[in-house]
Parts: sequence; structure tokens; C-alpha cells
Amino acid sequence: MKKVLLIISGGIAAYKSLELIRLLKQSYQISVRCVLTEAGSHFVTPLSLTALSGDRVFSDLFSPTDEQFGHIQLSRSADLVVVAPATADIIAKLAAGLANDLASTLLLATDKPVVLAPSMNVKMWEHPATQDNIIRLSSRGTHIIQPEEGDLACGEQGAGRMAGPEVIAAEINRLIVGINLKPLKGLKAIITTGATQEMIDPVRYISNHSSGRQGYSIAESLAFAGADVTVVSGKTNVIPPNGLKVVHALSAIDMLQACEKLLPADIFVGAAAVADWRLDKILSQKIKKTAGTDKLQLNLVKNPDIISVIGHLRDTIRPKLVVGFAAETDDLVSNASRKRLEKNCNWVVANFVYQPENVFDNTHNTVTFITEKATESWPRMNKKQVADRLVARIVEFFKK
Ligand code: PMT
Repeated sequence: MKKVLLIISGGIAAYKSLELIRLLKQSYQISVRCVLTEAGSHFVTPLSLTALSGDRVFSDLFSPTDEQFGHIQLSRSADLVVVAPATADIIAKLAAGLANDLASTLLLATDKPVVLAPSMNVKMWEHPATQDNIIRLSSRGTHIIQPEEGDLACGEQGAGRMAGPEVIAAEINRLIVGINLKPLKGLKAIITTGATQEMIDPVRYISNHSSGRQGYSIAESLAFAGADVTVVSGKTNVIPPNGLKVVHALSAIDMLQACEKLLPADIFVGAAAVADWRLDKILSQKIKKTAGTDKLQLNLVKNPDIISVIGHLRDTIRPKLVVGFAAETDDLVSNASRKRLEKNCNWVVANFVYQPENVFDNTHNTVTFITEKATESWPRMNKKQVADRLVARIVEFFKK
């Protein structure tokens, strides 16, 4: 039986953790051992946790009676460590590496994957300190189950409500299965992501608003499924998740060359927003504002189309699965389907630029998944969920 060490910290969402324990045990046959923080004990009692988990509850770092089950042993006793609810405080402690109670010490001592289900007021969630901590923890490989938007216990509205117990239980199950099965083990994947930059002169360039978030999420999900992943990254603000190989390439030509060097591969995903055009000649000096001229003309030439080059490689070297993206402002399905054929991609993940907020640099995405046989509209999800769903399809493709 798989085991979860569940840390319950002090938030009103602690009541949902009781249902989470029940679901993990009954629906997924995963056993749960609970750690309750001092703040958490104001919201749920050790008695309820013991009754549901069928195990004793741990709270005290210095308990003389728990000596035979010290914090190091406890931190390694499960397949996964989950913090639900994860308050701003415990998230900050983990990001900073503090260990001044049983829960924070376990989180630092564990050698198992850690999952956080944040829960807090919207302002606390959106505070740059919390967001920095989340980015830092994600880059170290911590799994974050994004909080939902809606009415909050404090009476305000917005993001910060802990995800539902069914969502958390399903994610825990997926992670536990993934940890053990690694269905893409032995396969090599190349992912392009981020924005390309085409230099105009020493200080100016042509680029776009891609953050690299969607591509890095896919890379992370592929790596989690066991693939050997290399990201070819244009400009991005994302701190690469731990353990991912990253090659930096700013222009379209650099990106193409970097991809070609990494071949052969089994999977190619082109999530980068690549400039279609570049300057025919990059100027070696900064363009001056000359008196008397109100117009400036730049000559652009077409860039190579990276995904089309990869898609049209001869069969012996072409990755078995080539996945393109399509960012459209109109006629989503017909434009994306045309791109799939022209670029010889197996699949295209099509997204409207306006959804209605701009998809570039957004945390969420609504996509249409297009294959030779079908066109599926996927519901609005965060980019990590889109990545997980895409990777589930990739796993199915290679099973066949
Ligand atoms: O990075 P984020 O902020 O998370 O945003 C994600 C995203 C919107 C950038 C992503 O979901 C996306 O749509 N990426 C593709 C953007 C794009 O360039 O779309 P396109 O329709 O112009 O290109 C179609 C496909 O051809 C893409 O796979 C693109 O990578 C590829 N291409 C385009 C031009 C070129 N010269 N070479 C290419 O390989």
C-alpha cells in the first residue's frame, strides 16, 4: 500500500483535509499518516485525524515518547509528503529552509517528493513574497496544487481557496503512480519554449510576450513521467525546475541549431513563440534619430520554421511524435489544422491569443487539441494542468 505523510498547517481549509484522508484511503487505497502543526490544531483535532487515518498523529519535534520514530525516520516513511492546507507561513519556512517545529523539520529532512496545496487570503497569495517563494519552491521540484478562485473564508474574493479534496487526492494518486511507473522512461524529448529575440542593433530587438511557462510546464511533466528532457529556451522569466537540462538560444536560427544538435529524439514539442522574421542584416551600431526623417524602414527576411524542419525530417531521424502549438487571433481550428499539415506535426495544441485575457504570460490556458483524427476542446486550466493532460496523451501514444 502506498503511503502519504500529510502535514496539516493552520488554515480554515484544514477541515477539507479530513475528507482528503477519507478519499485517499477509500478511493485510492493510499494510507495516510498525519502531522498536525500547533496552528493546525486550532482547526482540526488529533482525535478526528486519528479516527480517519487509523494511525496516531504526530505534532511534537521533541516528544520523548516518539523517540523510536524520530523526525528523520518519519520524513522518509512515506512515498510522498503533502502539506494541505499549506499556509503562507509554512510555504515561507520551506522556501527559506527554516526548521523550528516538527512539520518544517520533516519538510527539510525528507528525501521524498513534496506537494503543497496552498490556502490563504487572496492578498497573501498574491503578495510578491509568497509568489517568490512559490516560484523558488517550484524550481526546486516541489509540486504546487494551485489554489482556486472564489469566495474566501475571510469574506474576500479571489485566488487562495485550497483546491478541493477530490482534486488534491487525484493529483496525489497521479504523482504516486508516476513516481513508480515512469511510463516515458527511455524516451528522449526536446521542448522549445519562451520568446525568441531577433537583434536589430546592439540595443534593440524584435520579440514577443511569451513567458516560457507553458513549455517549461510540459518539460516538467515529461520529466516526471520519466522522459530524458532537454529544454531549448528562448527568453523567459521561469526559473527552470530542478534537474531539467536547459540549452539557451535566443534567435530562431540559434534555436533551430540547438534543436538539430540534440537530435535524435523521440518527442519534439514546439511551444516557443518563434519570430517568423529577422533583420536581413543586424546593424553593428545603434540606429540614430536623424533630424528631418520621420520614418525608418527595416528589411526583414523569413526565419526558418523550426517545427517544420523537424516535422519534415526523413523517417529514420524524425522524432516519432512532433507536437506544435498555434497561437491564433482568428479562425483557431482552421488555421491550426492548416499549420499541422504544413509543418507535418502529429498534433497541434491551438490557443487563442485573447481568451479573453492574453494567453502570453498568463498562468492559465484554454486549448484545442488537434490530431489527424480529432479536434478536442479542453476546459480552461492552469498551464501545468494543460501540460499534464498533454503528457497523458503522449504516454498513451507511446503505449500504442
Ligand atoms: O510562454 P507562455 O507565456 O506560457 O505562452 C504560451 C504560448 C502562448 C507561447 C504557447 O502556448 C504557444 O502558443 N506557443 C506557440 C506560439 C507561436 O509561435 O505560434 P505560431 O502559431 O506562430 O507558430 C506555430 C508553431 O510553429 C509553434 O509550434 C511555433 O513554435 C512554431 N514555429 C513558428 C515560427 C518559426 N519560425 N518556427 C517555429 O518552429
